[in-house]
Amino acid sequence: MDTVQRVVLGITGGIAAYKAPQLIRLLGKSGVAVKAVLTPSARSLVGEETLRVVSCNPVYTDALPASFDMAHIELAKWGQLLLVCPATANTIAKLAHGIADNLLTTLALSFEHRIVIAPAMNTAMWNGAGVQANIGVLASRGAIVLPVDEGELACGDLGPGRLLPVETIAEYALAALAPRVLAGKKVLISSGPTVEAIDAVRVISNRSSGKMGAMLARAALLAGADVCVVSGPAAFPLPGGCRVIPVRSAADMKAALDKEFAACDICIMAAAVSDFRPAAVLEGKKHRSDSSAWSLDLVANPDVLEGLGRAKTRQVLVGFSLDSGASEAAAAAKMKKKNCDMMIANAVESAMETDATAATIICKDKPAEHIATSDKRKLAEVIVRRIARIPEHSHE
Ligand SMILES: Cc1cc2nc3c(=O)[nH]c(=O)nc-3n(C[C@H](O)[C@H](O)[C@H](O)COP(=O)(O)O)c2cc1C
Repeated sequence: MDTVQRVVLGITGGIAAYKAPQLIRLLGKSGVAVKAVLTPSARSLVGEETLRVVSCNPVYTDALPASFDMAHIELAKWGQLLLVCPATANTIAKLAHGIADNLLTTLALSFEHRIVIAPAMNTAMWNGAGVQANIGVLASRGAIVLPVDEGELACGDLGPGRLLPVETIAEYALAALAPRVLAGKKVLISSGPTVEAIDAVRVISNRSSGKMGAMLARAALLAGADVCVVSGPAAFPLPGGCRVIPVRSAADMKAALDKEFAACDICIMAAAVSDFRPAAVLEGKKHRSDSSAWSLDLVANPDVLEGLGRAKTRQVLVGFSLDSGASEAAAAAKMKKKNCDMMIANAVESAMETDATAATIICKDKPAEHIATSDKRKLAEVIVRRIARIPEHSHE
């Protein structure tokens, strides 16, 4: 049986094309076979002989001999994933508008599996309305458009537009080759911190970066779900392709989730919702000269997760239990009390503002699963796979 995964790598005329051989090597090390397709502009930016040697496959260009006449169809049938990397503004525009004027764009039109796009361009181009609109079109059609990196660009400018590190792109490609275990499911995710106003300028918030929520959104998208994220003002960007409802306070978040909940199949509550808010919001700004000391009266916010647990009909409901020194027993009790199907327990010490976290996945009628300290991206993928295993009838 052929168990090797197959990626068609579309290389376009961006300066980052020189990184393509390294990407092919990385994918090869993970057992992925790669066939490279170059646009005419890419041919002067990366060595075809190098690509041929590292991929152990012929390299496909518009200058193919007649024997390769149907290369676009052959490649579309061969590949399980089309990875366009680097993706120029030009090719992104062509893909968004269904233009087929070279081998890569023609192949993309006939490609029936997933397409991952790794953009790379100058900051002004990236921020331009045209590029952003085209990316929106591609994401809305199911393509996975990766974020760009920030830093110094080949042109010397500083800002967003750099190609992500090839290691990260290889990870995304591997994840995109993974089975679509949530195909057809509507997933609702809450993410990031909430912010409670004290007066016109001051707020109470928390240290949540929104990374866990963003990684869950990414993993759910890769698993084929239709994803909506209700997000507080988080520092970490959400992936393209999900519907975002921005909120600030816990009350805003509750209102948005209550509205969206009935239509979802799976709800993952990853937001750090403020438990308390000021009893009253002061008008204007309180000045230092107003008093020598100031104490705030706080009142409890409604428990959003508990409310969703009560409203639950057919949905799978997943909560996070963040505590000082995560306790499995406390998380299991919380899962029961709030009528959840799964609870992820993690410790404040390892979870806030970090890239990696350790966690315990607690599910009804199953032994707890301890996940050793892991990248939040990998943890999110595990959580999504475990959610997909929860049988429909268990939450009727
Ligand atoms: C040296 C060089 C570097 C370039 N780098 C980029 C780039 O990083 N991103 C981009 O969108 N365009 C870049 N361009 C412009 C594209 O090559 C140009 O838009 C071309 O039409 C793209 O064709 P393709 O999308 O078919 O490969 C670069 C051009 C040159 C000459």
